[in-house]
Amino acid sequence: MISKAKHIEAEIERLKKAQNAIILAHYYQDSEIQDVADFIGDSLQLAQEAKKTNADVIVFAGVHFMAETAKILNPTRKVVLPDLDAGCSLAQSCPADQLAAWKKLHPEHLVVSYINCTAGVKALSDIICTSSNAEKVVRSLPADKPILFAPDRNLGAYVMKQTGRKMDLWQGTCIVHETFSERKLLALKHDHPGAVVLAHPECEPTVLRHADVIGSTSALLKASQTNPARAFIVATEPGILHQMQRASPDKQFIPAPPEGNCACNECPYMKRNTLEKVLLALRDLTPEITMPEDLRLAALRPMERMLAVS
Ligand code: 13P
Ligand code: SF4
Repeated sequence: MISKAKHIEAEIERLKKAQNAIILAHYYQDSEIQDVADFIGDSLQLAQEAKKTNADVIVFAGVHFMAETAKILNPTRKVVLPDLDAGCSLAQSCPADQLAAWKKLHPEHLVVSYINCTAGVKALSDIICTSSNAEKVVRSLPADKPILFAPDRNLGAYVMKQTGRKMDLWQGTCIVHETFSERKLLALKHDHPGAVVLAHPECEPTVLRHADVIGSTSALLKASQTNPARAFIVATEPGILHQMQRASPDKQFIPAPPEGNCACNECPYMKRNTLEKVLLALRDLTPEITMPEDLRLAALRPMERMLAVS
């Protein structure tokens, strides 16, 4: 007898063809969603893929700001997000009106915003960055211009360290990456001598200082493939382990633990999407992402600047 999951997968494949749809999935999605996706990537790769697709429908298996970004870049396509409440603590930390007030206090500054923000915040920004191009984006700006960086203070601090460029930082954090425990990471390193520590720059500096490789999800995946070590401690959302293990079945991947005895290293927003919701989104073409055209055009400008730098 065919299992329920297999039945859903078959129905998703049928609907993809019927609707001329593609599924784009972030590495933090459940493995069963990654397995039905046409493309899996980090935030930058997903934005690039969304821009170039000819499909009529983009099912975005990720969070709201990512689906919104797809719509900004490819407005003639229908973009659906399996769960409209799949938000992001970074995007929530920075409402557009508060960013506008901060900008007003610093009229000389350029605004660099991490892609984990709303369309309203993008529209107020001079340029967008992702975790894979943030250094490059900041280095591309005129040296005599002061910079406001929003909303992730950890990524901002990391970029300041790498570039030597002073920036004023919005004080947002990712609820997943701020949760990793330095104490438990050190204990794990002790138990696994020789393990390479891979960390996302959204982690706190106390964790980043113990990392061997710091980078976006795709950079960490690549490092897990190219580094000859046999064991890796992974300080980012554990959804990425699915592709790491698939690419290197003989290597050991150990998720970095959170401080408490919780599953709070899993992103509760990303995990709102389920295979069933992906199926319903494909079938009903809802919930759809829409936005006023003037907002879209204002948010597009800093996105295009970023894509030109990338
Ligand atoms: P990247 O996709 O750029 O690695 O960022 C990770 C993340 O937290 C996305 O929400
Ligand atoms: Fe936002 Fe963090 Fe979840 Fe990424 S992992 S969507 S940054 S809350």
